[in-house]
Amino acid sequence: MAQDVNKLKTILSAAPVVPVIIHDDVSSARALAEALVAGGLVNLEVTLRTPNALKVMAEMAKVPGAVVGSGTCRTLEDLKASQDAGCQFMVSPGAPVALLEAAEHVSIPLLPGIASPTEAMAASLMGYTYLKFFPAEAMGGAPVLKSFASPLPDLIFCPTGGITIANAPTYLGLPNVICVGGSWVVPEAAIKAGDFESVRRLAAEAAGLAR
Ligand code: 3PG
Repeated sequence: MAQDVNKLKTILSAAPVVPVIIHDDVSSARALAEALVAGGLVNLEVTLRTPNALKVMAEMAKVPGAVVGSGTCRTLEDLKASQDAGCQFMVSPGAPVALLEAAEHVSIPLLPGIASPTEAMAASLMGYTYLKFFPAEAMGGAPVLKSFASPLPDLIFCPTGGITIANAPTYLGLPNVICVGGSWVVPEAAIKAGDFESVRRLAAEAAGLAR
């Protein structure tokens, strides 16, 4: 099976927003994860964009209630390393065939990114039902996903890229959206300052969004 749909559905249903985290400081990883989980955002996407990303994931995975996923997965090595770091899901900005095939050899589900009907259909033909719509705002935003719903009724999306507390409700109101992803809940300045209470407040606000 290319994508464990039930597992991914269970994970992505748990909270309306998946924080997209770019974080390199292992020593503060736990505090950041604890703040997000305390606010109600349990799914944490840690992008593979920093040298210590895998160590950050492993630290965050120790936090009770945290469901850590890897982001920016581009290679088979990324997929295997994510699994070894204790991740429970993986996210990619794209959906190249080689990556979708590689994900079949990893036991945690991959959420691949698509930006067009053809890409969504190609992923669907390979057994992928849950897809990231990326970069959501730049590709036309919620009206595009709304247009996907009639011809592609079985496909479910997590839009990411340019999502904010202001536009998230429009996406979350669509029948083919399970959750949204975004970095607005993890502002770099607050994290650098050690202001995890601000992160917790932003997470609580995001967790309160209706679906
Ligand atoms: C990303 O991959 O960087 C995510 O899509 C986050 O986008 P954002 O920073 O616009 O929320």
